[in-house]
Amino acid sequence: MELWKAMELDNAEQLVLCQDRNSGLKVVIAIHSTSLGPALGGCRMWDYATEEDAIRDALRLAKGMTYKCAVSGLSYGGGKAVVMGRPDSFRRKDVFRALGRFIETLRGRYVTGIDLGTTVQDMDVVRLETGYVTDTTGSLCATGDFTAEMTAYGVFLGMNQSLMQDNGSNTMANITVAVQGLGKVGSFLCRYLHGAGARLIVTDVDDQRVRNAVQQYGAAAVHPDHIYACACDIFAPCALGAILNDSTIPQLQCRIIAGAANNQLAEEKHGIMLNDAGILYAPDYVINAGGIIVTAAELNGYDESIARRQVERISATLSTVYQASLSEGIATSAAADKLAEQRLSRVLP
Ligand code: NAI
Repeated sequence: MELWKAMELDNAEQLVLCQDRNSGLKVVIAIHSTSLGPALGGCRMWDYATEEDAIRDALRLAKGMTYKCAVSGLSYGGGKAVVMGRPDSFRRKDVFRALGRFIETLRGRYVTGIDLGTTVQDMDVVRLETGYVTDTTGSLCATGDFTAEMTAYGVFLGMNQSLMQDNGSNTMANITVAVQGLGKVGSFLCRYLHGAGARLIVTDVDDQRVRNAVQQYGAAAVHPDHIYACACDIFAPCALGAILNDSTIPQLQCRIIAGAANNQLAEEKHGIMLNDAGILYAPDYVINAGGIIVTAAELNGYDESIARRQVERISATLSTVYQASLSEGIATSAAADKLAEQRLSRVLP
């Protein structure tokens, strides 16, 4: 793998590879940008097939965090730590202590937190070595499911904004929303939508979660493969990435796509395909920024109510993206990238 080329491709600032022989830790820390402030982004722990996969994932995820922070108006940049493999429970504490020591050497250029495969308890261990960590026990982000709830709240508000953009009315009454994935975010989202009078169609690979939504909200259930072709007003992807692709887009029967999942577009061209199909796409990293907004609020010393108010700004950001898309005749995904890049270029030397 050509490391410099990979960094240049994503315009990443710094790539740090660390290994600790005692614990067996091998971690890639990618810092995409600190132009707006310290790089935020959780620590993912995963069995990557190759080292190259881990490095590419870290670079890609860090860039996504930069764009998410920039478009949301946060004074933070983007980074990501990717720990290779899964240590057994015996070594786990040593691994995260070593990670904390490496993060400390970066002197605040990167602040870590939880992501796929890591837990609040892991972050408590990191905390023993560095203050540059969020999601520790007792923190706002790690209390209950506040982060997931705020992500769902942001998505719900973004749906209202999208309805307004689409037909000039943001009422959810008689609006049908198809929710893909009833995990932490998807289940909070269903609660908001049901409370606002929306009709729900739901799917999940976990049958119990589907049964719960049917019972609690009177939702109609469909097989996971059939969610794309459902007749609905809004399709809300809240499970996997890359689900908007050559095979699914032609099936869609919705007017709006607004959901929490990261990296919904398989490729950039799929944003253009949605635009050409007349489907209003709420760019994922704009509408799902509730979690990172809460993290930033906590780092800035704000409490829950201020964090919640800051999540409410997602509506205005989305509106700016939609206006730019219309006035420039470009896809909403491209308009979001442009807005993020404008904010970044204003602070670059
Ligand atoms: P989760 O892991 O709690 O829930 C995901 C759900 O999707 C699970 O119920 C799972 O069974 C279901 N699922 C998996 N494959 C599926 C398939 N093929 N069809 C239908 N359902 C399927 O995850 P969480 O936290 O709710 O996050 C959902 C999405 O939102 C993820 O893409 C995540 O990266 C993104 N996100 C989450 C944030 C958070 O605060 N939790 C913040 C920003 C983005």
